Amino acid sequence: MQVISWTKIGDFSPLHVFGVLAISYCAYYILYAVYATTVSPLAKVPGPLSRKFSYLPCAITSLRGRESHAVRDLHSKYGPVVRVSPEMVSFAAPTSWKEIYGYPGVKKFKKSGYRQLRPGVPDLLTANGVDHARQRAALNRAFSDKALREQEHYFQDHIDLFLKRMEQRCDEGNPINMVKWMEFLAFDIIGTLAFSSSFNCLEDQGYHPWVTLLMNFFKSTHYVLTARMFGIFFPLVFVFGPIRHLMKGQEHLRRSYEKVQQRLAMPEDEKRADFWTFISRQNEHKEGSMSIQEMEVNAALIIPAGSDTISTTIAGCIYLLLKNPETVASLRKELQAEFNSESEITMARLANLPYIRAVVDEALRMYPPLSGDLRREVPPEGAAICGHFIPGGTIISVYALAANENAHNFAQPHRFTPERWLKSEERPEWTKNDHLDACQPFSVGPRNCIGMSLAYAETKLILARLLWRFDLELMDDAFEIEKQKVYIMWEKPPLMVRLRRRPS
Ligand code: HEM
Repeated sequence: MQVISWTKIGDFSPLHVFGVLAISYCAYYILYAVYATTVSPLAKVPGPLSRKFSYLPCAITSLRGRESHAVRDLHSKYGPVVRVSPEMVSFAAPTSWKEIYGYPGVKKFKKSGYRQLRPGVPDLLTANGVDHARQRAALNRAFSDKALREQEHYFQDHIDLFLKRMEQRCDEGNPINMVKWMEFLAFDIIGTLAFSSSFNCLEDQGYHPWVTLLMNFFKSTHYVLTARMFGIFFPLVFVFGPIRHLMKGQEHLRRSYEKVQQRLAMPEDEKRADFWTFISRQNEHKEGSMSIQEMEVNAALIIPAGSDTISTTIAGCIYLLLKNPETVASLRKELQAEFNSESEITMARLANLPYIRAVVDEALRMYPPLSGDLRREVPPEGAAICGHFIPGGTIISVYALAANENAHNFAQPHRFTPERWLKSEERPEWTKNDHLDACQPFSVGPRNCIGMSLAYAETKLILARLLWRFDLELMDDAFEIEKQKVYIMWEKPPLMVRLRRRPS
């Protein structure tokens, strides 16, 4: 009987087999590189050669948390359309947002690479067609202006506690890490809005374990998305990435589901105005209804979507204002002209003030909470985008940071200038050719951010009351935006500030 040896097949040792496989892979790769850079329909899209045939440049800068910056720099060099990887093209022209995410683009270009939190149960971010329209209609009520008016006291109460904590710290005379306190505040508010149950970070003066878990979750998800680009070398990334935190994604879902159940079990209360109050009202009328499972997955989406984005925006506003003291003076002037005391500061009255809105818009331009790609796929027949024909199957995106800091869209893009967002006659002459529509931090179209009004109202309220109560002094430049990393969200370094009470 012939015995087959696993260590030696005929004259081939495992080393030979490995060698043949490696040579075949290299040969395939060389052929592919030639195709990707010469014959592929994307070959003529501008971009560095290495990015046209290899995922490595994109994957490596992503792992380093610098892909948003790298794509921004590529657009400065190659123009408004850039090939960022063999399968992906980025757009930074003023019309790109509208063409890809607005009408009629939204009907043509489907989302790509989004994963359902619970397989089989679409949440707002992953639902399509009628499911998305139905869920969006249900949630729209919870994010309406009327809802926001009923919810304002939640915001004001949390800001009261936040400012009390700031006064205590201020009396101790120590610098304060504003990033940490903004995270406490934003998470407590979203907990109350989503579940009528605060995370109590401000009360306990520390991170709730769920908050810590979520912040690690962003980074791990980023690593997994990046790892896919390594193809067969995928497992290597798992060795180096903080993947253990990803397992905690399940923990986030479990906690969200549990909280929704607890919330739905609460007795009726006419004064309650959290998100589910408005959604349940709608369910009674059957139109735009939402199942309990859908409520659970949407809660799991809204907690991260509505917390870190806000703390990032406010931290960005504070840093950029303090780096530009003349803008603080202009903002104070506007607040003092409008209000006689802090108790008069409300969301409704802030809505009429142009300068504070301009400050937030300019901070969102220079420090967009979602600075990276929002992927869409070109349909099989291909499509013309920003004057370029893009073949079917290509992944397309606008990177917010790239569009916002492109000198063709904004004059002196690295200069913090809230005035560029004011009415035409009040804008400095040198900003008059800015393409304001190139900056869309909340995206555009029917799949844009549902929390946009809430985000503006919340950010302005926190900023106005903080500036009313305190003078702020920046202690160091550790927060410097240009040096920060992005793992889906910005990895925010400490923002150390000294506070001094202002006379009331
Ligand atoms: C400054 C703060 C915020 C920014 C810059 C922001 C940005 C965005 C962007 C760019 C999208 C589109 C995502 C995509 O196409 O993949 C989005 C969607 C979304 N955002 Fe926000 N967001 C912010 C605050 C909020 C808040 C406060 C909430 C909720 C409390 C929220 C909830 C959502 C939800 C549920 C979606 C999915 C909408 C849909 O697909 O129909 N966001 N956001």
